[in-house]
Amino acid sequence: QEQQHQPLFDLMQKAGDYFEKMLRSHEQRGKAVDYLKNRGLSGKAAKFFGIGYAPPGWDNLQNFLAANGERELIKQLISCGMLIEKEDGRTYDRFRDRIMFPIRDARGRYIAFGGRVLGDEKPKYLNSPETPIFQKGRELYGLYEARKIRQKLTRIVIVEGYMDVVALAEFGIHYAVATLGTATSEHHLRRLFKVVPEVIFCFDGDQAGRTAAARAMETVLPVLEDGVQARFLFLPDGEDPDTLVRQEGKDAFEQRLNQAVHLPEFLFEHLKEQVDFDTLDGKARLDQLAAPLINKLPKGMLRSLMRNKLRDELGADSVALDRLESSPPATAAVAEQAQYEE
Ligand code: UTP
Ligand code: MN
Ligand code: MN
Ligand code: MN
Ligand code: MN
Repeated sequence: QEQQHQPLFDLMQKAGDYFEKMLRSHEQRGKAVDYLKNRGLSGKAAKFFGIGYAPPGWDNLQNFLAANGERELIKQLISCGMLIEKEDGRTYDRFRDRIMFPIRDARGRYIAFGGRVLGDEKPKYLNSPETPIFQKGRELYGLYEARKIRQKLTRIVIVEGYMDVVALAEFGIHYAVATLGTATSEHHLRRLFKVVPEVIFCFDGDQAGRTAAARAMETVLPVLEDGVQARFLFLPDGEDPDTLVRQEGKDAFEQRLNQAVHLPEFLFEHLKEQVDFDTLDGKARLDQLAAPLINKLPKGMLRSLMRNKLRDELGADSVALDRLESSPPATAAVAEQAQYEE
């Protein structure tokens, strides 16, 4: 299986090398270099992350990698998402006039790219599609690079974007990863908790970021075996990790990380915002919201403590927990969940 995909890995590596070379030597590299400089990126960081430039034009990469139109190569380039095939069978480069961020797997192999426009065009980021060697729900940008700096990490920060990962690293915070234009998946989290006991979610200080945090909280629950921790750092409005670390520097940012909210606290605070907690019917609703979430936790001490906490918050035994207990757990949790999703 791995063996069978070797040609794709090889092509992705060649594409990455090509983009890096273009950042150094293409006649229009000036605007790409200026863009990176304006964003405060050092050459050293760009090199460490393998950042490159896809020049303007429809067939630069194709001409470079399949100069004589070799059919087998073209097919492989389509399969790994670097070329797009039109209905009439003609092909063109997916990434044009973009800053290129290579995405590497755990072994450092190039498996995908994210490409950012230099201006305000849309879409701001273009990502490789799912391919035989790239599944978005499994890969994390920056994980390979973080482990290259330090094999034994103690915590990992999950951020939204490529630039967040790169900026944090630039400031000496070498333990940030980003999902690739998707929500954090259970698979991502299981993978991270194999590497570290603590994961801190640090999304952008905007509505989308707060929504993503609430969603991540639900996703992480089934993964939270006793002994691992999920925490949440909420940034000031309008900031993301990139802008904030540049303003504040490493120590202040790490100070924020050290004070990140623990999941149990976030869960209750977040739910309390959705009910009128000073009323009895508000508390009854809190019970309805909290019970299915607590029930998603694996059996263990944390789950017991959360159950006790819910009881303390309600000032009474949880009715919803008992009801979930007596019905098949998974489906009950999902049903309760769906009820409040609107
Ligand atoms: P943001 O809009 O927060 O972008 O999207 P950013 O990372 O801060 O980008 P800069 O600072 O303007 O360069 C967060 C992440 O969502 C994905 C990308 O992975 C991005 O890094 N995204 C965003 C896309 O995939 N496509 C888009 O068009 C926008
Ligand atoms: Mn954002
Ligand atoms: Mn940003
Ligand atoms: Mn952002
Ligand atoms: Mn909230």
